[in-house]
Amino acid sequence: MTTTTNTFSEPGDDRLAERARDHLWMHFTRHSVYYEGSGHVPVIVRGEGAYIWDDQGNRYLDGLAGLFVVQAGHGRKELAAAAAKQAEELAFFPVWSYAHPRAIELAERLAHYAPGDLNRVFFTTGGGEAVESAWKLAKQYFKLTGKPTKHKVISRAIAYHGTPQGALSITGIPPAKVPFEPLVPGGIKVPNTDFYRAPEEYRHDEKAFGLWAAERIREAIEFEGADSVAAVFIEPVQNSGGCFPPPPGYLERVREICDEYDVLLVADETITAFGRIGDMFAMSRFGVTPDIITCAKGMTSGYAPMGAMIASERLFEPFKHDTNTFLHGYTWGGHPVGAAVALANLDLFEREGILEHVRENEGAFRRTLERLNDLPIVGDVRGAGFFWAVELVKDKTTRETFTEDEAERLLRGFLSKALFDAGLYCRADDRGEPVIQVSPPLIVDQQHFDEIEGILRDVLTRAWALL
Ligand SMILES: Cc1ncc(COP(=O)(O)O)c(C=O)c1O
Repeated sequence: MTTTTNTFSEPGDDRLAERARDHLWMHFTRHSVYYEGSGHVPVIVRGEGAYIWDDQGNRYLDGLAGLFVVQAGHGRKELAAAAAKQAEELAFFPVWSYAHPRAIELAERLAHYAPGDLNRVFFTTGGGEAVESAWKLAKQYFKLTGKPTKHKVISRAIAYHGTPQGALSITGIPPAKVPFEPLVPGGIKVPNTDFYRAPEEYRHDEKAFGLWAAERIREAIEFEGADSVAAVFIEPVQNSGGCFPPPPGYLERVREICDEYDVLLVADETITAFGRIGDMFAMSRFGVTPDIITCAKGMTSGYAPMGAMIASERLFEPFKHDTNTFLHGYTWGGHPVGAAVALANLDLFEREGILEHVRENEGAFRRTLERLNDLPIVGDVRGAGFFWAVELVKDKTTRETFTEDEAERLLRGFLSKALFDAGLYCRADDRGEPVIQVSPPLIVDQQHFDEIEGILRDVLTRAWALL
């Protein structure tokens, strides 16, 4: 171990970046940038409302709410106070055969918000753990109810569902999986709802495309054998690939197919819950009730880690009897501080009308971003709520996309840094086709929409000139 003097951060302290480079193993990060290139680790030291500041004193609009997390915005003293108060009263107790007031209150509250009979709340610390829990529950539920061979999971191309090996199996992004193979067997993939890149014959009919995509799920169930398939995992609006909303009728048809083959429908709402799409759960907004919801991120607006799997009463039923036990859990699941913060965050949502604000402003956000359609590099603007993607293309008319090499140069070589340098923290992503994603705190308004559009316009114009 090498030691460094323990200095606290001061604005302008260059050593923080250096110390990060030397000791902090950043997630999903290509560290060579800091060793072989001239990269400087960005160090964020403070947040207030929709803005964050780095250690050099530069201000950025947080166009990604951290990581689709900070719904209520930064610097909310009441959420910090809720954490401190709970830590003083009862900092920790597990929910392993015991309960504590905040876990009970939060479970009841989430059950109240969740659609249909999704009444049973199993706490985790994040989205990947919630996804993992849901797959395990699906398998055990069928074992307990006389269908022990049902174990496979169907999910969609390019979808990200987390990093535990089960969740990674459900994930549809090959480069994120290959280094860790073999993964949990039984992860089957079907097409997602990318309407912009729909098969030619469906490009002008969103409803027909949605039904086509839903039928691919039926086809996969039949191909694998319904007696082997336990669940279908979908995000109501898929993040990876760039904010694919469900075409009209799609979720309804998927629900019917799942019912027909006795397959559980799991809505992975790790991103879409807690106001991102204008409702506590996006599935409520879309009017379809899944069997399980997985959620995390926005539940606490990021002031503490917290996740949950919310299951229907039907799935809990076998666990009310005999020695049946869901032998699964996490030390930090239902953490009192996380639960207290989540409750305070949900109070804030209600008091400030956060859901209403998103619903009232999503149209304005869309219209502002759609102004970018006049740029030659912008192929598509899509999304819902406060969750938007701008797909970049080489040729607008043919929708031709970039080669791998060009995408690498465009996104990593230019856009990510140029956007950040211009004052916008957001995501330039090429897990599917190249997209820029914006998903800011849910408190932003027209002034922020304009700022986002202005920075995107400037940087995308420069990117086009460089191509
Ligand atoms: C849809 C979805 N599922 C699961 C996860 C994994 O969540 P976590 O990083 O909290 O484990 C994510 C993370 O972004 C996600 O977007």
